[in-house]
Amino acid sequence: MTTDHRATLSAARSEALGALRAAPDLDALDAARSAYMGKRSALTGVQRQLGGLDADARRALGREVNAVRAELSAAEATRRAELESRRDSVVLATDAIDVTLPPRVPARGRLHPIVETTEAMLDILVGLGYRVAEGPEVETDWFNFDALNTPPDHPARSLQDTIYVRHPGAGNRTDEDGSTGLPLRTSTSPMQIRAMLRQEPPLFVAVPGRVFRADTADATHLPMFHQIEGLAVAPGLSFADLKGSLFVAARALLGEDARLRLRPHFFPFTEPSCELDAWYGGRWMELLGAGMVHPNVLVAGGYDPDEVSGFAWGMGTDRMAMVRHGVTDLRLFVENDVRFLASV
Ligand code: DAH
Repeated sequence: MTTDHRATLSAARSEALGALRAAPDLDALDAARSAYMGKRSALTGVQRQLGGLDADARRALGREVNAVRAELSAAEATRRAELESRRDSVVLATDAIDVTLPPRVPARGRLHPIVETTEAMLDILVGLGYRVAEGPEVETDWFNFDALNTPPDHPARSLQDTIYVRHPGAGNRTDEDGSTGLPLRTSTSPMQIRAMLRQEPPLFVAVPGRVFRADTADATHLPMFHQIEGLAVAPGLSFADLKGSLFVAARALLGEDARLRLRPHFFPFTEPSCELDAWYGGRWMELLGAGMVHPNVLVAGGYDPDEVSGFAWGMGTDRMAMVRHGVTDLRLFVENDVRFLASV
């Protein structure tokens, strides 16, 4: 009896070892394990017979069964380790990432040249002690004209220059057709008045913003464009302070070697007045208007012209951006052609 068991056990052992060691993959190994070590295996069959043997034979055969089971487990573990590491290296090889491949670089946004120019100018002005303020784009006639010493019969008020928004009930202006309207600010200058009314002197304020004029778009004009207004009011400010500030700011923006000139001009809200030009593209290009704040304007802002004086300027941000970025047609700034925006 025991000899039969031994023979069965030995046959089961070699068959099982063969199957476990030769299992081609992990599924086959699992199948071999249950076939040769599971409940229905020959090994388990021999184990079941143990109960019918006498004590000595049982102990001896039991030890052998256990030894075979341990040997099979070890063989299975060894094969499992081999198969798992083979699987892992296949996965590593097929999922491998080639870190030397050039990446697909996502297109990056950037600041619009006008925003870039605005921020550069404001940085310079903040460095000179100015504060930044913003104001409304829809103004009233009083802030846009009267308070800036621009009388009602001034040609700048004509419908040809100023865009009015219909605003029934505002009563600021009567069109030919009898409707009323408010002006879109024609410059950032009305903020001079708002800033003065808001704060006692000394005052150093910079105002970026959009302005509107009934102009036909061409290379150097747009019906909507940008300005940065500067206003400095303090006791004893002179034209020398104006000139110094303008040249410092313009050189910081355009480079130390920028060719600049001041040219006499007229504005209702400044006396004397001037314009600052930069040499660009073989000609002088106007960058800003400026001057010493007219006493009437100081009075409109609630300041006393006997105690303080001031200078002011209004810079055409778009023109400055043209010079800074080497652009020759203003319209490019508003057409939103990505090829242009990416190239400046
Ligand atoms: N408001 C003027 C314009 O739009 C520019 C200007 C000129 C602003 C002289 C000023 C100034 O503050 O003093 O053309």
